[in-house]
Amino acid sequence: MSVSSHHQSNESISSSKQFKISVEASDISSELTQRVKTKIKENGSPIAFEAFMQMALYEPQLGYYQNNLHKFGEKGDFITAPEMGSLFAECIANSVIDTLNNDGLNSILEIGAGSGRLAVDLLKSLKHQNSLPAQYFILEPSATLQSQQKQLFEQEAVYFLNKVVWLAELPNEFEGIIIANEVIDAIPCQLIEQTEKGWLYQGIDLKNGELCRCLMEKVDCSSLPTCLIDEYNAESYILGYQTEIRRQSSGWLLSLSECLTKGHILLIDYGYPESEFYHPQRSQGSLTCFINHHRHFDYLKAIGLQDITAHVDFTNIARLSSEHGLSVDGFTTQAGFLLENGIIEKAEALLNPIENMGLDIDRYKISQQIQKLMMPGQMGEVLKVMCLSTQLNARDLTVKNTETSLKGFSMQDHLHRL
Ligand SMILES: C[S@@+](CC[C@H](N)C(=O)[O-])C[C@H]1O[C@@H](n2cnc3c(N)ncnc32)[C@H](O)[C@@H]1O
Repeated sequence: MSVSSHHQSNESISSSKQFKISVEASDISSELTQRVKTKIKENGSPIAFEAFMQMALYEPQLGYYQNNLHKFGEKGDFITAPEMGSLFAECIANSVIDTLNNDGLNSILEIGAGSGRLAVDLLKSLKHQNSLPAQYFILEPSATLQSQQKQLFEQEAVYFLNKVVWLAELPNEFEGIIIANEVIDAIPCQLIEQTEKGWLYQGIDLKNGELCRCLMEKVDCSSLPTCLIDEYNAESYILGYQTEIRRQSSGWLLSLSECLTKGHILLIDYGYPESEFYHPQRSQGSLTCFINHHRHFDYLKAIGLQDITAHVDFTNIARLSSEHGLSVDGFTTQAGFLLENGIIEKAEALLNPIENMGLDIDRYKISQQIQKLMMPGQMGEVLKVMCLSTQLNARDLTVKNTETSLKGFSMQDHLHRL
């Protein structure tokens, strides 16, 4: 079974590829690497991979999502769905529009808005349909991304700025629709490995002054998915099998469930149900690094200059959501979600005026966009979409309800796979 890519990159590479790195980028990476080394020295022992990933991505001013180097789009390191063109945002608009208009849930809160592209295109599409939300909140922990988002609004849609509110933390009470595209896969995870002693955490140590991977203490069984410890299954996992668990998901979902007093949460991310995520054949897990559109697996390289990401175990997300009082209303593939939300018709509408003017290059770009978003080998199947909603008494994963008022979950209902 092949390891699929996170985000979208133009190419996958061996880790020997050399990159042209600016002096500024090189300084950032050296300083961050030094900080990781200092942390290990101060600790007096290796640090867990999760602590390393936290620093690599979120160390103030230096971490990948905190420094001011360019990340998204053609000139960055990877492309997310909203960066490919407006079709993704138009489909999200289609999914939420009835709820925005009819259910009194007239606000949107986007978590982790990246370059701001989804926010701008979603608002444009909703405006076009006379359905602008009362407010569009953005929770973006990265100051540098926040300023990029503001810049994008100023360049392209300054007239929306009176609708957009940047938040420093989740509001105490929110009624509306929360959207998080490719956010969970950026939340630090733990790396674990099957060894003769059982499942051990992987960590980062110092050897001759350089960072290196190491094994750490035994994983507490209570934090493992049952398939990894089930005695009938245990032998399926070969020595050296490596995978991820994401402890922080629980706190993240709890904070969302506490803030959402009424409404829906739309989660879109690379991932699988548990049985596929922890399939014995996926022996290298899903952790991947992206730099300059190259995909590789050496997270100790170019620290702070490359994204580090791991897929999402959606069964775990569904279970935790239910425990925190949210109902799991829908689960489907990105392709199913986009099809049901009219991606083909929307592409045709874009193509019609282009055909008349005969602009082949634009036609080519739209067909590329559709292929990347929809094809099984690209983003269509590996990206999943989940809809959660506030609902009392929904503490059991068996309580499922496909009658969600967000559109996109009926055509290919995958709830049974969780
Ligand atoms: C892979 S990027 C995706 C950006 C954007 N949603 C897109 O699709 O292009 C991850 C985003 O999540 C943000 N992020 C990471 N952890 C977060 C958290 N705990 N709360 C809110 N945002 C977070 C990052 O700063 C970044 O904007």
